[in-house]
Amino acid sequence: RPRIFSGMQPTHDSLHLGNYLGAQVNWVKMQEEFDAIFCVVDQHALTVVPDPAELRTRTRVTAAQYFAGGVDPERSTVFVQSQVPEHAQLAWVLNCFTGFGEASRMTQFKDKSGKRGAEGTNVGLFTYPMLMAADILLYDAQKVPVGEDQRQHLELTRDLAQRMNARYGDLFVVPEPHIPADGAKIMSLQEPTAKMSKSADDQRGNLMMLDEPKANTKKIKSAVTDLDNAVRWDPEAKPGIANLLRIHHAFSGESIEALVERYAGENKYGALKTDVAELFRSVQEPFKEKVDTYMADPGQLDAILAAGAERARELAAPTLERVYDAVGFLPAR
Ligand code: TYM
Repeated sequence: RPRIFSGMQPTHDSLHLGNYLGAQVNWVKMQEEFDAIFCVVDQHALTVVPDPAELRTRTRVTAAQYFAGGVDPERSTVFVQSQVPEHAQLAWVLNCFTGFGEASRMTQFKDKSGKRGAEGTNVGLFTYPMLMAADILLYDAQKVPVGEDQRQHLELTRDLAQRMNARYGDLFVVPEPHIPADGAKIMSLQEPTAKMSKSADDQRGNLMMLDEPKANTKKIKSAVTDLDNAVRWDPEAKPGIANLLRIHHAFSGESIEALVERYAGENKYGALKTDVAELFRSVQEPFKEKVDTYMADPGQLDAILAAGAERARELAAPTLERVYDAVGFLPAR
């Protein structure tokens, strides 16, 4: 079976709706058809220098959310990045093949370092995309299911793979991003022209999978819309309404046209919000319960992740060996 790879950062306790609709829903669909590998990228999360106990908890609860959302550990490989040392090892090699200017152009780096200022920025944040490229290239992944915001990182991954293939022969599979048509960019409820983001200043714009359903309902009801008072599909002029329609569509499967028709007429914003809140609650409640079940037995969770890491290493080790040999490192034996 062709291979896919993807991951999320354990930077918060809860995933938000963007992570869920932009990535996870596709992971679950694709694991049927592909040999799927899903990683909790704790080394990436270290770039924000979290509290150690918090990082450990978040790593577990992120994995628990993978499973709660439908990732099946029997079918897919799920593991924690730091337990497979080949990621950091390959990242070093890739660092040496990445131009300084090329890395400086990554918009995610510019956003994040800009927000924190030169003082708060570490080198890990700068080399982040090369570690991400290593994640993907180690497993010869053909496809990488992610949201729109990861497109540029995927482009860099492809460039690095092609560059190294041109120099050393066929070292890497050149991966393709798999970005969903719907849900690729879920927007903030408070600022619907900006993506829903874990690092946003205004957390009222984020729907968190593990928050109390009541809190999320409240956030949806106070989502920013517009004064025009008619439900129409116009992402440019009506980004708030477009976002709510997209979320509705992602959960209900109903077409945008059908929804626009349903909520036609004056003063239907309230009805749209009520229905979106209800749809979200019906997904969120069982999700939260499943996460609690996994978190109640951290020993079992750790065992699943350890088994995943073992399988991952079996796949990663030969790739790293291939690369080490190609670049001219002496064999270890
Ligand atoms: P992260 O942890 O920020 O986000 C996890 C996934 O959620 C998607 N996403 C969104 N999708 C739609 N709308 C949004 N508002 C939204 N916000 C986030 C992201 O696109 C992502 O798919 N660098 C990655 C983690 C990573 C990775 C990898 C991913 C590290 N190595 C290798 C794929 C392959 C990141 O920061 O994701």
